[in-house]
This record gives sequence, structure tokens and C-alpha cells, in this order.
Amino acid sequence: MSAAEAAADVGSGAGAASAAPQVVCTALAKTFPAGREALRVLDPLDLTLEAGSVTALVGPSGCGKSTLLRIIAGLERPDTGGSVRIGGDDPAAVRRRGELAIAFQDASLLPWRTTAGNVALAQRLARRPVDRERIAELLRLVGLEGFEQVRPAQLSGGMRQRAAIARCLITEPRLLLLDEPFGAVDELTRRRLNIELPPLWSGAQTTTLLVTHSISEAVLLADRVLVMSPRPGSVVADIPVDLERPRSLEHVHSARFAELTERIGALLGVDEPAGARG
Ligand SMILES: Nc1ncnc2c1ncn2[C@@H]1O[C@H](COP(=O)(O)OP(=O)(O)OP(=O)(O)O)[C@@H](O)[C@H]1O
Ligand SMILES: [Mg+2]
Repeated sequence: MSAAEAAADVGSGAGAASAAPQVVCTALAKTFPAGREALRVLDPLDLTLEAGSVTALVGPSGCGKSTLLRIIAGLERPDTGGSVRIGGDDPAAVRRRGELAIAFQDASLLPWRTTAGNVALAQRLARRPVDRERIAELLRLVGLEGFEQVRPAQLSGGMRQRAAIARCLITEPRLLLLDEPFGAVDELTRRRLNIELPPLWSGAQTTTLLVTHSISEAVLLADRVLVMSPRPGSVVADIPVDLERPRSLEHVHSARFAELTERIGALLGVDEPAGARG
């Protein structure tokens, strides 16, 4: 992990009190050099995330979802001509103010720090007093009670992911970017987190963009689901989720939920039989 990633991962300023920003991506494209050829990962896309909204990004593996998140976080540059504005500001500026948190796909905790120590560091870097009670509360909420003092190597992959989520939430970021936050988390815990965590990030304070491979999770969590094409990725469908909030597991069993997941599944070319949705 680079220094920039480490700083973005944990946040690095003050800034929880302000309102959620609108995020505007314009003509955002990404090409990576790959030998003599260039690898076109993202086709130019225009995208606006409304202030305080939760957007889920779904799409086939390798279509550029993580790349898009990293560009929005200012960790990767878009191709010439593309831009990202977060509340009118450059991503790097927002990151420097500690108003942006990103949970990477691979959790990336500092291995020499305990679980609680990783979360506390995020708070310290956000120039806030370390609030042991709040840290304990968040770790309890993500199901890591009793594991506060162990090191990441002693945690399972799913537990590390949950620690990374707690680390993001402790700074109360204005922009929260979650890359498959529950990918390694078991199904039961995932369901519980899908219900218990959103109150921490929905509302006027935070704009959220999350990547998930689970269609039902996308529908359950988001106000809007963006479906991406295979690489080079572009947004091929933009589906508003008109389920009322707060969401509960009852929504999962509603006819509207089934309609939405089936529609997204069809766009992705996957059949998710009713009752067997991940
Ligand atoms: N730094 C890099 N240099 C070169 N190629 C890269 C780099 N980062 C990503 N890629 C390539 O860009 C493409 C998109 O990668 P990305 O990680 O954004 O996909 P993804 O949609 O997040 O996939 P997954 O669902 O598997 O996580 C892949 O083909 C990958 O090999
Ligand atoms: Mg990815």
C-alpha cells in the first residue's frame, strides 16, 4: 500500500461536521499501459452522485469498478480530459481534509497494530481525540467484540473487512467509498451488517458509493444501482431503488425487491433464482 493509499484509507483531517458533498465525474476514462498495447479499462463516463445518496456499483469482474473508486478517491488519475469534483473540490483536497474514507477490497489493515489500534489510528489521523468508547461500540457493531486487541494476522478475511469498515466509519467521512466491503463476510453476518450499518452512513452527512457483487445487497443498501458493462466499463443502466427507508430484511421478501434484483440480474446476464439471491 502506498503512502497516499494509507492516508486515504484512514482519512487525515477534520471535517465530519459538514454536509455530504455532491460528486461529479465528467468524461472520466482510464487506460493503463500494458506492454505495447494500452488496456482500456473505463470508457468515458459522466456520473453524478447526489449529496447524501447511496449508490451501488455492480458489474462483471475486471470491468473497472475498483479503478473508478480509486479515481474518485484521487488515488488514480483519470485519462486526460476527465475530472472528478467532490463538493466542487479536487479529490486530493478532500482527502487531505480527511473527509473521504475508502475501504479497499483487501481490507489493508496495518499488520503491527491491533484491531482497535487500527481504528484508533484513523481517528488520530483525522485529528480527533481517540474515543475508546466509540471505537469499542463500532467494533461491537461489526461483530468484533473480544478481538479488539488482536493483530490482523489473527483475524479471518471477513473479520479484517469488518475492521476496515469500522476504521472508515470512525472518522464520519463526508464521502464513503466501499469496495466490496462484505465480500469475505459470511452470509449471516453480512445480512446483519446490511441492516445495522447503513444508519451510520445514510443521511445528510455522507455520500456513499459502494461496489458489490451481490445484487440483493446492492438493492437493499442503495438509492440507486449502476450496472456496468464488461471492460472497458461504462454505465449501461442506472436503476433507482424506490424501496422506503429504513430498509429491513422484510424488503428482501417484497415483490418490488424481486423485480429489481431480477432486472439487474438480467442486465448482468446472471439468473438469480428467487430465494437464492446472495
Ligand atoms: N494499476 C494497474 N495497472 C494496470 N492494469 C490495471 C491496474 N489496475 C487495474 N488494472 C486492470 O484494469 C482492469 C479493471 O480492474 P479493476 O480492479 O478496476 O476491476 P473490478 O471491476 O474492480 O474487478 P473485480 O470485480 O474483480 O474486483 C483489469 O483488467 C485490471 O487488470
Ligand atoms: Mg474490484
